[in-house]
Amino acid sequence: MSGKDVLLQPYRLKHLTFKNRIMSSAHEPAYSEDGMPKDRYRLYHVEKAKGGVALNMTAGSALVSPDSPAAFGNLHAYKDEIVPWLKRLVDECHDHDSAVMIQLTHLGRRTNWDHSDWLPVLAPSPIREPAHRAFPKEAEDWDLVRIAGDYAAAAERMRMAGLDGIELEAYGHLLDAFWSPATNRRGDDYGGSLDNRLRFTFLVLDAIRHAVGPDFIVGMRMVADEDWDRGLSRDQGMEIVRRLIATGQVDFLNIIRGHIETDAALSRVIPVQGMASAPHLDFAGEVRAETGFPIFHAAKIADTATARHAIATGKLDMVGMTRAHIADPHIARKIAEGREDEIRPCVGATYCLDRIYQGHETLCLHNPATGREATMPHEIQSSTGPVRRIVIVGAGPAGLEAARVCGRRGHRVTVLEAAPHPGGQVRLAARSPRRRDLNGIIDWRMAECERSGVEFRFNVWAEANDVLAARPDVVVIATGGLPDTSFLEAGEDLISTSWDILSGDAGPAASVLLFDDNGGQPGLQAAELIAEAGSALEIVTPERFFAPDVGGLNHVPYARCFDRYGVTITINRRLLAVRRDGNGLLAEIGSDYSDRRDRRAVDQVIVEHGTLPLADLYFDLKQGSRNRGEIDYPALIEGRPQTIESNPEGSYLLFRIGDAVSSRNIHAAVYDALRLCKDM
Ligand SMILES: Cc1cc2nc3c(=O)[nH]c(=O)nc-3n(C[C@H](O)[C@H](O)[C@H](O)COP(=O)(O)O)c2cc1C
Ligand code: SF4
Repeated sequence: MSGKDVLLQPYRLKHLTFKNRIMSSAHEPAYSEDGMPKDRYRLYHVEKAKGGVALNMTAGSALVSPDSPAAFGNLHAYKDEIVPWLKRLVDECHDHDSAVMIQLTHLGRRTNWDHSDWLPVLAPSPIREPAHRAFPKEAEDWDLVRIAGDYAAAAERMRMAGLDGIELEAYGHLLDAFWSPATNRRGDDYGGSLDNRLRFTFLVLDAIRHAVGPDFIVGMRMVADEDWDRGLSRDQGMEIVRRLIATGQVDFLNIIRGHIETDAALSRVIPVQGMASAPHLDFAGEVRAETGFPIFHAAKIADTATARHAIATGKLDMVGMTRAHIADPHIARKIAEGREDEIRPCVGATYCLDRIYQGHETLCLHNPATGREATMPHEIQSSTGPVRRIVIVGAGPAGLEAARVCGRRGHRVTVLEAAPHPGGQVRLAARSPRRRDLNGIIDWRMAECERSGVEFRFNVWAEANDVLAARPDVVVIATGGLPDTSFLEAGEDLISTSWDILSGDAGPAASVLLFDDNGGQPGLQAAELIAEAGSALEIVTPERFFAPDVGGLNHVPYARCFDRYGVTITINRRLLAVRRDGNGLLAEIGSDYSDRRDRRAVDQVIVEHGTLPLADLYFDLKQGSRNRGEIDYPALIEGRPQTIESNPEGSYLLFRIGDAVSSRNIHAAVYDALRLCKDM
């Protein structure tokens, strides 16, 4: 099968042969330390190399100049000290026959000035980019000569580090800002005609080629149609494509369609959950058909069937599966080994990307090993110790991950679940049609558990005796939580929760007030369902801006919905009490800033205030356990086995994970489970 699979066929670009057609496109995971790709960064990419990816396009937007300060942990390609760090990364990826390139850029106005060297950010014209909010200076002639030199110096550093090539970023950053009528209003030699708008790009390409010579691979990740009434049209984009190819200075093009001026626009370039699969693949294929030039592309090609289609139909030469590799870095290897059905699916949650815009590092919602390669395994090894009898209570994300890991370790695992189905809160979230891909988190784990013989007993409300009857060596309590409504001064019995809406237990009434001080997805998801049902809806939150834990890209579909249905959003206000008022309700609203109280007459009040742990069983079992439920935190943090045995009378080890401990999210739940169970 592997010999015939188009995805696994090699591809030759100049002197370089990629061993297959699968690449991970540029993305900044924000694992850098002081702008350098140190151990964490390297191990992340080496894991994909081990997993068989043919090309790791490293960095996202490695910076060529100090006046392009990092927007999300970008690498400092303008510093010589980066060379040895990159060289080690490249060498270790090459050991696995995986090519390594890097994306270079000057971010232009797509960053902020208030850190690093406090230099003003710049752009062709002084037009603010709404997403990053800096007011740029208009680039002067000496800026452009300086920056072209910076590109060349950075390219030379990359060549010295042994990289197989570079890719210049030209969508939403400085290079293409000169191309686009939306961002270039100049009247000098760099504005107006297409020749002028391309002048800076050619200055940069000339400088790079002068530095690295003709053989080094130089590509461009470029927008060929901004899909924007103010922006670059398809015809203009295609003309730029032709002119770039005609220079003979670029070796491949990585095609982008759309613009990234706002989060809403970015979500069309990098589609999130619920949006169409591979929306720009046909366009990239048209560029390839019209030019016959090497074409790379990535945009929600999340599964192997779509990737295979992209290559088999000749739309692409190299197919980018970027978030797919964040979810599972071993895609190509699993295909080659005939284990394609074991690939952990990317469910499109885009937790990975939203986190970097919130100042955090990339983490996958349901693969806690990604970015933690130093301590967490992507592949669970069989235990060399005794086979243990392990009882897990709860089949939500935490319990399922514990079951998967313990099963793979080779233990005898039984899962007791009160509901008739697995999934817990994930199942609730996946009830929204837009988020149904979340079911992949459950389905993949159930399939893994089946492969390792984990036993499931559904419709069992487990008591201590049920657990002890199995004579367990280890008990893992993953019973989750229940919505917390205990904060109200009055009226707890009059309200419903976001869970009631998501599960369908409560239907939206005609007028609804939804109070959300959790700030994550559940409140917004309930609000989306209520708005779509046609109710008059006001969302009230005490935050400075609403849903602070929902990142920019995940925010887009909610904002679209709330806009469409005219939902009222009230910030800085807090629900205090709910009282009956005839057939309706009176919601009393206060604030943290004054004593003012308002009343709202509505038919229904919905509350999202996180969960309280459902932990009675844990406490019932605590005294009989050998560790009294205690977890060694230093060992947990460092990824070492748990060894606490404080109660010699006890007969089993007891652990509590996920929301059964405290109200958190899916990532916290699966990470709890993996780090506790990987050494059992
Ligand atoms: C965490 C993260 C950071 C990214 N940073 C960059 C970047 O710096 N430069 C870039 O060209 N694309 C960046 N991207 C976009 C990816 O290269 C890719 O186009 C996008 O994820 C869509 O492909 P996918 O659906 O296969 O993930 C980033 C994506 C992610 C998930
Ligand atoms: S967080 Fe979601 S989108 Fe990102 S890699 Fe993981 S599953 Fe895919």
